[in-house]
Amino acid sequence: MRQSITILGIESSCDDTAAAIVRDGPEGRQILANVVEGQTSLHAAFGGVVPEIAARAHAERVDGCVSKAMAEAGLGFGDLDAVAVTAGPGLIGGVMAGVMCGKGISAATGLPLIGVNHLAGHALTPRLTDGLEFPYIMLLVSGGHCQYLRVDGADDFTRLGGSIDDAPGEAFDKVAKLLGLPQPGGPAVEAAARKGDAKRFALPRPLMDRPGCDMSFSGLKTALLRARDKVIAEKGGLTLADRADLCAGFQAAVTDVFAEKTRRALALAPVGALAVAGGVAANLAIRAELETVCAAAGVRFLAPPLALCTDNAAMIAWAGIERFRTGARDDLTLSARPRWPLDQSSPALLGSGKKGAKL
Ligand code: KG4
Ligand code: ZN
Repeated sequence: MRQSITILGIESSCDDTAAAIVRDGPEGRQILANVVEGQTSLHAAFGGVVPEIAARAHAERVDGCVSKAMAEAGLGFGDLDAVAVTAGPGLIGGVMAGVMCGKGISAATGLPLIGVNHLAGHALTPRLTDGLEFPYIMLLVSGGHCQYLRVDGADDFTRLGGSIDDAPGEAFDKVAKLLGLPQPGGPAVEAAARKGDAKRFALPRPLMDRPGCDMSFSGLKTALLRARDKVIAEKGGLTLADRADLCAGFQAAVTDVFAEKTRRALALAPVGALAVAGGVAANLAIRAELETVCAAAGVRFLAPPLALCTDNAAMIAWAGIERFRTGARDDLTLSARPRWPLDQSSPALLGSGKKGAKL
């Protein structure tokens, strides 16, 4: 019988402080507690995540999140098998706050310590939520990440392609800013796009002529800026309809890029399933297009519940369970890593998102 394993996960690599407890055993996979404390209001005035503010907030809040998670699950440290903590990639001050908390718990209780790659947490989530078997493709699309990964095992990832500049969520946020819409930009741009005409502005579909599934969103954002300025020069300002048309054009361009690059990813790695994770996966137009592409290829499409798609600690606890089962253990020499590519053999992608390194 499959041995029951219960792990505390800690996440602090960007702007969410989180702690969760996940159990995997004969009764299946259970999330016993999942606490996330976001920092949106702390960074709102600065138009992006400020690493020093994030690090301080993580250091102040991480112990409290752990206590809340333990209370929510009704467990003591003696009921756990290990503590798993995000050891990178991410904003280094925040990662250090989490790693120090994990080490403190391990040193005080004797629990084994497991360092988890944040991207592995995202990439393994469909196994927690749906019991998805290897191999599959994971498309990670958020404000800080953008890559296609072939996932063959808990520690076996091959990057098929990714953004060479902005992450798509970052591009949505910048477009919102250019059009005077609120942050985070994704939901605002999607809502405006619903009322717009996607054909009015001819925006580019970057890197379509390049083979493979690398992407670029920075030029698209610049093209939108030019289109906006042309309207302003002609009419002296933007109407609601202009904004809606610009949003619709931008979203259609991003959606087309994902459709084509997903077809290519499926051709490069012919597997039975494709899963998405990250805040941009909340976009219904993009999600519907991915579903269509997967259905046409006869591939299963999975999108975990949004709360487990965005940054959380349940995915770190789950990745910890997967590593624990393979016998992986870390010790108090575990260090925080700002960059930590999942696929060590692929060359680095250029650029890094506003929320930290993409690799
Ligand atoms: O995964 P997430 O919560 O955090 C990290 O980036 O780590 O993703 C947040 C990003 C933001 O850039 C936000 O604008 C974008 O996801 N986003 C969306 C939508 N909802 C959130 N982008 C497009 N359409 C949406 N509906
Ligand atoms: Zn993330």
